[in-house]
Amino acid sequence: MKIVRGILALLACALNVQAFSSLSGIAVSPVKGGDAVNLEQYLENPNGKTLFIFGTYAADFNAIEYLQRLRHYIPRLKECGVSKFGVVLNCQPEAALAVAEMVDLDTSEVDIFVDNEGVSRKQFGVNTGWLKDNDDVNPYVKLFGMLFGLGAWATLPAVIGGYIGNPFVPQPWIEDALAVGQKKGRWPDTALQIGDDGSVVNKFDELPVVGDWPRRPLELATLRLQSMIGISIENWSELAPDDEALQAGVLTQLGGCVVTDSNGQTLFERKDTGICAVTNFEILLKKITT
Ligand SMILES: *[C@@H]1O[C@H](CO)[C@@H](O)[C@H](O)[C@H]1NC(C)=O
Repeated sequence: MKIVRGILALLACALNVQAFSSLSGIAVSPVKGGDAVNLEQYLENPNGKTLFIFGTYAADFNAIEYLQRLRHYIPRLKECGVSKFGVVLNCQPEAALAVAEMVDLDTSEVDIFVDNEGVSRKQFGVNTGWLKDNDDVNPYVKLFGMLFGLGAWATLPAVIGGYIGNPFVPQPWIEDALAVGQKKGRWPDTALQIGDDGSVVNKFDELPVVGDWPRRPLELATLRLQSMIGISIENWSELAPDDEALQAGVLTQLGGCVVTDSNGQTLFERKDTGICAVTNFEILLKKITT
């Protein structure tokens, strides 16, 4: 019995090790210009762990949510030994800087890279979307299909989760991102009461019964509505993929992220499973501290 258990444990270990993707040969361009950076070299960080996010195009829900989550979690990630933060977006440098500003991300803390046509993401092995090889299908039709879960199984549960809330897992980044949106004048602006001193009263806390849930029903859906209207649609012309990026299929590709240790060895990896189904940073934090 002991031997069997031992073999199973070894097998699980081996599978675990092999499950991580190779990050070699991936290059990304710094948003400020200059030579492309080899990702493996970037991830070598003698000062601690590194978080690297494979974002999507700048006007995309998933890209916006990654930046919103990152903004909120930087202090807690630092407590867990992460000292370097990188994000690559599939867009031109102006669009990457614009979306970072829109979510109030501190770009002195985060290295932003661009890869207009999403080559790095494909190398990392992300989900490249429904009908990815059918060039004759309009990319926007594909995106529409994916919103209903075609080719990306977790889209619908994630979108529905935004409406029904979750009594178990807190998602404090949502309130933070809502506050940023409200301060920047985006609608809906009734979810939070923000005092002159910066204090925040979350109206969702006042809902009967579910107000005690760590993630209230409609809270995430409200944030997504705010981001859709106030970022994706309002600034579509600044943030939309260009023709080359559209041809390369960035509209329907999903992202992912990795956390590596000081030697560049992978501690956590995720390839996203659907639109609105990006990395849960509460889970990531647990994984990199155990
Ligand atoms: C977003 O769009 C609004 C309205 O057109 C404009 O005033 C604002 O400057 C844009 N923001 C960025 C970062 O381009």
